[in-house]
Amino acid sequence: MTEFAVPVPPKTAEQIDRDERFGAPNYHPLPVVVAEAEGAWVTDIEGKRYLDLLSAYSALNFGHRHPALVDAAKRQLDRLTLTSRAVHSDTFATFAEALCDVCGMDMMLPMNTGAEAVETSIKAARKWGYDVKGVPADRARIVVCDGNFHGRTTTIVSFSTDPTARGGFGPFTPGFVTVPYGDAAALAEALADPMVVGFLVEPIQGEAGVIVPPAGYLREARRLCTEHDVLLIADEIQTGFGRTGATFACEHEGVVPDMYLLGKALGGGILPVSAVVARREVLAVLVAGTHGSTFGGNPLACAVGTAVLDLVKTGEYQERSRVLGDKMLARLRAEAPVAVAEVRGIGLWAGVELKIEAGPARRYCERLLERGVICKDTHATTLRLAPPLVIEERDLDHATDTLLETLATPEAF
Ligand SMILES: Cc1ncc(COP(=O)(O)O)c(C=O)c1O
Repeated sequence: MTEFAVPVPPKTAEQIDRDERFGAPNYHPLPVVVAEAEGAWVTDIEGKRYLDLLSAYSALNFGHRHPALVDAAKRQLDRLTLTSRAVHSDTFATFAEALCDVCGMDMMLPMNTGAEAVETSIKAARKWGYDVKGVPADRARIVVCDGNFHGRTTTIVSFSTDPTARGGFGPFTPGFVTVPYGDAAALAEALADPMVVGFLVEPIQGEAGVIVPPAGYLREARRLCTEHDVLLIADEIQTGFGRTGATFACEHEGVVPDMYLLGKALGGGILPVSAVVARREVLAVLVAGTHGSTFGGNPLACAVGTAVLDLVKTGEYQERSRVLGDKMLARLRAEAPVAVAEVRGIGLWAGVELKIEAGPARRYCERLLERGVICKDTHATTLRLAPPLVIEERDLDHATDTLLETLATPEAF
């Protein structure tokens, strides 16, 4: 079994051992085996409870097993689960209309995982480029950002700048141009190329460590995209549905993209549901036979997605994210121990950057686990915090106390 910095109880060790024997080693999980969960809390197979400050990378924005979402899923399970898109289902239009309404867009295309939504947007942008913008066949380019994370397919890792994500997976898909994130001048230069059809961007970079771009960057990106007839493709798969204190992170700059890419929380933490939501002129290029997925838009996904949008429409979760997030970030910044180099974030979402000499972030995550708090490192020196938006204020205070104490323990520095 993998070595951990903290003691692992025998039952947990046995389960991890079996996971490692039969499961490919493409993840490095924390040494906890979760058996049950509710709201912001999870319980492991030893009966120990933890506060979940990761929320399955924001897929659990509404917490574990939100009653309204579980209820919607159960009711749908008793009626109709899968049709494929070969026929219509009586759940699709309600979901599609609600999603277009929340996004202020005309059309949506449902898929399952986030990576599929990204792939869909790449195909739509290229086809739009040829059919509408008039780019010569096979010459379309899409501009992406340094440090991006958009998923794991071969095309998506083709334009990743993370050597671990792309190393060993070539040959790569051509047609992508990388610019530094947050650099409006570099973007202006890249977009001047008439072959460019899209700018694919995370409004705030998640996997890179919760990187918030300079104020005005997205607004300028919007202006430049409009000027050069380029589609602004906002990957809100992690930032969407309240994580940043607004329904979408683009709202912080008053920006409306040409395409929203959505996933994670859209499935309510129950099943994978993703979508591209756009203007009619953009998505209408994907005519019958050009794109699809057997499970995309399945009735169970539509039922859960519709219930998620009902929660989103209340505005309650965005408000909780804003209020609790302001408090969490203020405390982290004001009380940061010496190990901390920087605290970045917005809403209930933070990247706590450690000084190099503080040692790997993973070590702190294992210590936090021992103290009953789950959070995950990213890029060796960053702790990423994304509590469910339903977390109680006292639980968040407790988790913040525990985090600050753990980061301040002398043996950890
Ligand atoms: C911004 C962003 N885009 C796309 C993805 C890929 O989503 P999935 O893992 O569902 O394929 C992720 C996943 O972390 C993400 O954070």
